[in-house]
Amino acid sequence: MRMVDLITKKRSGGELTEAELTWMIQAYLDGEVPDYQMSAFLMATYFRGMTDPEQAALAMAMLHSGDRLDLSEIPGVKVDKHSTGGVGDKISLPLAPLVACLGVPVPMISGRGLGHTGGTLDKLESIPGFNVAETESEFKAQVAAIRQAIVASSKDLAPADRRLYALRDVTGTVESIPLIASSIMSKKLASGTDALVFDVKVGNGAFMKTTADATKLAHALVAISHQAGVDAVALLTDMSQPLGVTIGNSLEVAEAIAVLKNRGPKDVRTLTVTLAAHMLVLGKRAESLEVATGMCEDALKDGRALRAFKQLIQAQGGDAAVVDDPRRLPQAKYRVPVVASTAGVVTAIDANALGTAVMQLGGGRQTLDSKLDLAVGLVLHKKVGTPVSVGDTLATIHADQKDVAAVAEAVADAYSIGDAAPAKVPLVQAVIKD
Ligand code: URA
Repeated sequence: MRMVDLITKKRSGGELTEAELTWMIQAYLDGEVPDYQMSAFLMATYFRGMTDPEQAALAMAMLHSGDRLDLSEIPGVKVDKHSTGGVGDKISLPLAPLVACLGVPVPMISGRGLGHTGGTLDKLESIPGFNVAETESEFKAQVAAIRQAIVASSKDLAPADRRLYALRDVTGTVESIPLIASSIMSKKLASGTDALVFDVKVGNGAFMKTTADATKLAHALVAISHQAGVDAVALLTDMSQPLGVTIGNSLEVAEAIAVLKNRGPKDVRTLTVTLAAHMLVLGKRAESLEVATGMCEDALKDGRALRAFKQLIQAQGGDAAVVDDPRRLPQAKYRVPVVASTAGVVTAIDANALGTAVMQLGGGRQTLDSKLDLAVGLVLHKKVGTPVSVGDTLATIHADQKDVAAVAEAVADAYSIGDAAPAKVPLVQAVIKD
């Protein structure tokens, strides 16, 4: 086979066969297909899309590019969660310990920041010493011992996704349903989990901007899971504004710790509990969502979830003292307020623009080998629906460079201020099971 023929076929709207996709992924990993040809293929897929069988075949080809962990010797139903990516989405951090402390093993293989969105691994790496690069045997041993681990996919797990994910990030090919579905499914199935909860984000801060696209992606994720023998449910959740009040790696870790201390922003707490409840039901630890929600509330209130987070940090070599003293996390040198120049009510916040602003501060990747500044980011003092007076601080920029005029302007522009609060958008918009 020749890669140029597959690129041309996709560019012309053709449907690739399972054999073609399997060959392509293997040839790319073997170095026979260079990045420039794969980039062209990704762009053709971005514009042309894929049929259902094609995207399932791509996911399987990417899964089979590496090993699939066998976690069967670990007792219990293993359940993982995956978000399709948002701004300020730090949910995995409080979620894994919350679910683990209630008896369900969480073998989590996560990703790095992508485009304007942050990544769980980058956030965790802002905890001094935290190691996300475990071997398979370390990962399994940790899940067996403390029922949770959050790691990067090793070179043996879904290696195709690691290469493609990084390439898509710098070639403008992230926002594609088949590419997102195959990326997520290859690494999630490789982790050996028995069940999955998907948090499919919808809104301007998500890769899926419309409910129709998010619904399509949710069905694709659930269908590919079922095809692979994995139980799954997908929640469509709001990303029309950032989640919580922080964007940026160490700032988000501090917010996750606040949630585990039974404080923190309401939306982050509610979504953590909602996703955890679904995981407990799939993990057969609770017979209903109501019972599961009560269990989660109790574990947040009595400190079990917080202690489990400390355990997770310790198990992965991190400084668990950050939980008691979040100032041990990387701190930016400068704090610059962005103030309102008009009075009214916040009617919208452009989450995409704020994610991009954090990237400009150094908190996200601009190229494949960008080194992140884990301390920088934004703290939002006003969210949608909040009244604002002239001179009020809308957000504080945490920066390591003094001149942040361009970022400050972008942050101010991201806020729309009008006369009346808009209708409330529900946090969870749909639950999709097939
Ligand atoms: N999350 C992933 O793991 N992959 C994508 O492509 C997008 C979000």
